[in-house]
Amino acid sequence: MPDTQIPPGRHTPVMLPMTLTVNGQDHALTLDARTTLLDALREHLGLFGSKKGCDHGQCGACTVLANGTRINACLALAVMHEGDAITTIEGLASPDGTPHPVQAAFIAHDAFQCGYCTPGQIVSIVGMLDEVRAGVPSHAAPDIAASPALSEDEIRERMSGNLCRCGAYTHIVQAVRTLTEA
Ligand code: FES
Ligand code: FES
Repeated sequence: MPDTQIPPGRHTPVMLPMTLTVNGQDHALTLDARTTLLDALREHLGLFGSKKGCDHGQCGACTVLANGTRINACLALAVMHEGDAITTIEGLASPDGTPHPVQAAFIAHDAFQCGYCTPGQIVSIVGMLDEVRAGVPSHAAPDIAASPALSEDEIRERMSGNLCRCGAYTHIVQAVRTLTEA
């Protein structure tokens, strides 16, 4: 069979030019339309901080911010996010290398073990704290009409999309609490 012939039942890839804006930088790419945002970041832009844990929207290891909203990059097509401001773990520290306050809190509270889930946890917390500031309620709040209190139950509920196989949850919660008590 010639190399150019598509086997029965398979479809010709549709290649699309697109520009992805990641951590403030524009990247011109031409990608198969089926490329996920996670694969675009890792395989095409060399940004390996966002992790592929499950590739099914179940673990949160791939969490990035799209216009400030946390999303699972494994469930999003790259082309859907053309024009959006994507932030990954690589984009959180200051240009001089000073860690983002959430990164610093993770270090101070030893909030990780193997570290595989950690980039997703940290990016998710950044998005979560913005949600709290915007008054987005938690299912764990006794009164969802009240201002978010960010109790331990709330933190755990709001972060329930980010799994940690090492079970570092207690220290992760401590890290978040120090950020909100400051
Ligand atoms: Fe995306 Fe698990 S890799 S949710
Ligand atoms: Fe190992 Fe979370 S620190 S999976």
